[in-house]
Amino acid sequence: MTRATDRFDSLSGKVALVTGAATGIGRATAERLAASGMAVYGIGGDAEDGAALAASAAASGAPIRFSPVDIRDDAAVRAAVADAVEAFGRLDAVVNAAGVYRTGRRAEEVDEAEWALTLDINLSGTFRVCRAALPELRRAGGGAIVNIASVHALATVPLVPAYAASKGGVLALSRQLALDYAADRIRVNALIVGSVDTRMTRPADAPAGWPESVGLSFSPTAVPRIAQPAELAAVIAFLLSDSASFITGSGLVADGGMTALLF
Ligand SMILES: NC(=O)c1ccc[n+]([C@@H]2O[C@H](COP(=O)([O-])OP(=O)(O)OC[C@H]3O[C@@H](n4cnc5c(N)ncnc54)[C@H](O)[C@@H]3O)[C@@H](O)[C@H]2O)c1
Repeated sequence: MTRATDRFDSLSGKVALVTGAATGIGRATAERLAASGMAVYGIGGDAEDGAALAASAAASGAPIRFSPVDIRDDAAVRAAVADAVEAFGRLDAVVNAAGVYRTGRRAEEVDEAEWALTLDINLSGTFRVCRAALPELRRAGGGAIVNIASVHALATVPLVPAYAASKGGVLALSRQLALDYAADRIRVNALIVGSVDTRMTRPADAPAGWPESVGLSFSPTAVPRIAQPAELAAVIAFLLSDSASFITGSGLVADGGMTALLF
């Protein structure tokens, strides 16, 4: 489990931009990075949750700001990157956690709007944020990016064509950026995530005791439970830190052994 002592001291004094920071893995990441001494500029949808994050950070003295930004809007993304640099003086790290998940349809039932929305947020949104942030990372002398992909980039389950395609794209994009920006001392990795206890996976009619009541019946994993967002935030902090200085272009799997299982 994550321990408060799992600090990555090289993060201290640096600045991170985190998308999807209002909820779930993004929020846990914002809090985790701030606890490691980073200043965090969070963006994303869910303005109310984002305001709650900023308020609790202000109350605890954590340097976290939140700005509601739709990553489908390139001008807004560029403005957010500029604002983060204005607010904190530099940019050293980016975490792309914003995403949407739709399931329940085979390809012929996915209309243009659903396909476009999923790709626009999960893949193109990740691209836009990287494209806007890369010059700032270079200006800072180098940096690191973590893009959240999914086990669907490697293997999949029925009925998630747009989501699976978008996350495969995130993995490929991360490798490409790693190659193209290595000379600028910028590392880029994808985090391949299994099942995590966020609203993305929590059913509206979640049973009492969720997620403890949900063991192997949820998704088969070697570790027989769903992950908590903080467990992914810890891996992201590691990937951003100097402890991961030789890791770039990888798809790091943190799935409790889900993709290790044949049956
Ligand atoms: N929860 C899981 O089991 C799981 C598994 C694999 C991958 N993931 C990925 O992890 C990431 C985080 O998801 P989560 O589980 O924390 O769910 P979540 O729903 O809590 O977080 C998704 C975040 O994305 C933001 N977002 C959505 N559309 C946006 C847009 N157009 N512009 C800006 N922000 C937008 C939302 O506001 C939200 O804060 C996603 O990329 C998701 O695909 C999650």
